[in-house]
Amino acid sequence: MPSRRTFIKNISIAATSGSLIATSAKAFTVPADKPNVTTGNIVLSTWSHGIPANEKAMELLNAKARAIDAAQQGVMVVEADPKNTSVGLSGYPDRDGIVTLDACLMDELGNAGSVCFLEGIDHPISVARLVMDKTPHVMLSGSGALQFAIQNGFKQKKGLSPDAKRAYTEWLKTSAYKPVINIENHDTIGLILRDERGNFSGACTTSGLAFKMHGRVGDSPIIGAGLFVDPEVGAATATGLGEAVIKICGSHLIVELMRMGQSPQRACEEAVKRISVKQKNFKDMQVGFLAINKAGEIGAFAIQPGFQYALAMNGKNELKDAASLLKAERK
Ligand code: GLY
Repeated sequence: MPSRRTFIKNISIAATSGSLIATSAKAFTVPADKPNVTTGNIVLSTWSHGIPANEKAMELLNAKARAIDAAQQGVMVVEADPKNTSVGLSGYPDRDGIVTLDACLMDELGNAGSVCFLEGIDHPISVARLVMDKTPHVMLSGSGALQFAIQNGFKQKKGLSPDAKRAYTEWLKTSAYKPVINIENHDTIGLILRDERGNFSGACTTSGLAFKMHGRVGDSPIIGAGLFVDPEVGAATATGLGEAVIKICGSHLIVELMRMGQSPQRACEEAVKRISVKQKNFKDMQVGFLAINKAGEIGAFAIQPGFQYALAMNGKNELKDAASLLKAERK
């Protein structure tokens, strides 16, 4: 047992060299990364469908809209795309042939709203927004979320898109459940941004894994898993196999690592590493994380190669390949 004097001395040494984490067992430091400050609006989102989402969000930010409005309207572009099979009502259904939607958002003050297991509403993110703005709650689910949506003027739609119907009919022939990395796990629009005034916001929306069990909810509507925004620190979002993200509270973990001084890139790498340490079958799944901090630095990292993200800043909106753990291991 260290004496109280030694413990305090260790703490003061630690506090000068990086951020301090104190646990009941010990205190340890995370060495701080030197920030590389960028000004201006920055929008970062998952996969190639992030390009049109970023474009919309950036248009709003350039018109001085609120950060949360930019994030929400950005992902609404993807929710409305009839060709998208992993976000919105055109998404692939669950095993019972029903599309169920998960979405959440967080604003520049850290307020949050979420819906999960919602059926038949074409903009779940807008229902999440109303949960945040109009109720004392953070999350509504299933029939309660649907009732709230209808009470607020949303119309329920039935049925599957032609692509989803075809895929479901094909799937029924075997009813095998084997998500394909970077295809079926290519599943979410997670969008985070920092405006030129330093406000963060984020939004995350998905129809979840194709052919999931009825009632299954992924990470995307879970605050701290699929999305986390802390006005003092930054924002993070996730895509991929939601179960793996939930088990490590992925987005919250990344924001906390950034709070302790890690760069967004290092924090994303650490979160992926955490999955690889804790989850034996990590080589069979895809998870990708994105993060942004107060300095405007960004991070992107995935388990597998193939995770792409869209980055809009300095007048450009580009699709980029994220680095990955497995590619790094195979070198
Ligand atoms: N990441 C989305 C899901 O697992 O549903």
